Amino acid sequence: MRKPMMAGNWKMNKTIAEATALAQAIVAAVGNEESVERVICPPFVALPAVAAVVAGSGIGVGAQNMHWEHSGAYTGEVSAPMLQGIAGYVILGHSERRQFFAETDTTVNRKVHAALAAGLTPIVCVGESLEQNAAGETHAFVSSQVKAALADIDAAQAQRLVIAYEPIWAIGTGRAATAEQAQAICGATVRGALAELYGAQVASRIRVLYGGSTNAKNIAEIMAQPDIDGALIGGASLQADSYAAMVRTTAATYAAH
Ligand code: 13P
Repeated sequence: MRKPMMAGNWKMNKTIAEATALAQAIVAAVGNEESVERVICPPFVALPAVAAVVAGSGIGVGAQNMHWEHSGAYTGEVSAPMLQGIAGYVILGHSERRQFFAETDTTVNRKVHAALAAGLTPIVCVGESLEQNAAGETHAFVSSQVKAALADIDAAQAQRLVIAYEPIWAIGTGRAATAEQAQAICGATVRGALAELYGAQVASRIRVLYGGSTNAKNIAEIMAQPDIDGALIGGASLQADSYAAMVRTTAATYAAH
């Protein structure tokens, strides 16, 4: 049975003081919604403060990126051992990192290995551009991204990670994929690629999230899809009210997959 996950990616938003206040409001609103795995991912510098606020609440904390090496001459980078004890999750391969910071399938794969070795839960992002979507390349491209990210990851490790399908054209645009589109890619493409790698039974245990303009209004329809196990939420996770509404809707409507 796959536990639903509502993960908030705060991106490059919130000072330490603002992040602390938002985390406090989220704990007050959904600290008790244990049927949903709640994860919030503030910027690096706010991780310790947010981790202190959510301690004991059951809400998890994630980083938005990390380096694959333990330590070394990598100015400006943060490693998995540095996150241990503060964060339980790490977003890897977000399209904004691929687009603006030269992340490749190879570096994402290295990071997945490093995160798992450190006991972190990777939230591995995949998704096609508008041009690729228009050209009918979505299935082939997203499938190849999943397989590349998971190169040399075995079945036991794969069950400890989460895949987030985020079509680039839906991120921050207010134009979410329809529930049917999201289901088709999360199901046939992402879970299909996982089944090719690990077999159908293992694939059925791995959580697949959808991300891209999710909000309190469209989350119920998205979560009603059989292959969608949660959301990676950007803008709507920056306010406690909308994030809490999405968690509550999921708690109330999600029939365990
Ligand atoms: P929005 O929900 O703002 O579209 O962002 C989605 C996203 O990129 C989450 O990682």
